[in-house]
Amino acid sequence: MKVTIIGAGNMGRGIGLRAVAGGNDVELIDRNPEDARALADELNGTGGGGSATALASGAEVGGDVVVLALYYPAQEQAVAQYGPQLRGKTVVDISNPVDFETFDRLVTPADSSAAEELAERLPDSSVVKAFNTTFAKTLAGGETAGQKLDVLIAGDDEEAKGKVAALVEGGGLRPIDVGTLRWARQLEHLGLLHISLQNRLGSGFTSAVKLHW
Ligand SMILES: NC(=O)c1ccc[n+]([C@@H]2O[C@H](COP(=O)([O-])OP(=O)(O)OC[C@H]3O[C@@H](n4cnc5c(N)ncnc54)[C@H](OP(=O)(O)O)[C@@H]3O)[C@@H](O)[C@H]2O)c1
Repeated sequence: MKVTIIGAGNMGRGIGLRAVAGGNDVELIDRNPEDARALADELNGTGGGGSATALASGAEVGGDVVVLALYYPAQEQAVAQYGPQLRGKTVVDISNPVDFETFDRLVTPADSSAAEELAERLPDSSVVKAFNTTFAKTLAGGETAGQKLDVLIAGDDEEAKGKVAALVEGGGLRPIDVGTLRWARQLEHLGLLHISLQNRLGSGFTSAVKLHW
């Protein structure tokens, strides 16, 4: 599968590592092209089955699955820049729209979510929520406490969710479909809770949300 990751930061790296390990061809775009190049070099040096290519900022998006590995406020700019190219594609929203002043609430209205807002902005794309409950550090290793990471996935388009699930599974993680895109609200609140627990646990963003049954 060809996967484009827009944003070569912590999560771009974590998801990129899993995607290359799973044999995918990864395109990396960042507003700082040097960051995309450095990450592509790192991913290509891992010996995974896939490969990584750095594209220039504003380049044509080639992936069938496009991961917006950006902070919530940056999504608007990315949609303005890449929106027309995202038509017909699966677009993955990984954001936790946290209030960065208080870190105790989300900035989105109670009756919506970052993912639903993105879907409104991209009516011709299939928006899927995923990866917002998995920290970058744990994605890099692919597991926590010797167990596969669970990646919770929400979306309205079954085929699009299937592509994201295949990306997750190929990278050695466990996909869990939680329902329609409306469930992104709950996933974003779970993401906030998980972030807020880091101080209490002293876990330094190395913990994982895991389901057992
Ligand atoms: N970190 C985690 O463990 C974690 C876990 C779950 C979910 N998330 C979510 O994942 C998202 C990304 O987090 P992160 O920690 O990876 O952030 P990050 O390390 O800051 O990475 C974001 C990258 O995107 C770049 N960027 C910003 N606007 C852009 C644009 N318009 N076009 C292209 N590139 C752009 C940034 O460049 P600059 O450096 O110049 O700003 C930066 O390199 C956030 O929404 C966060 O809530 C993070």
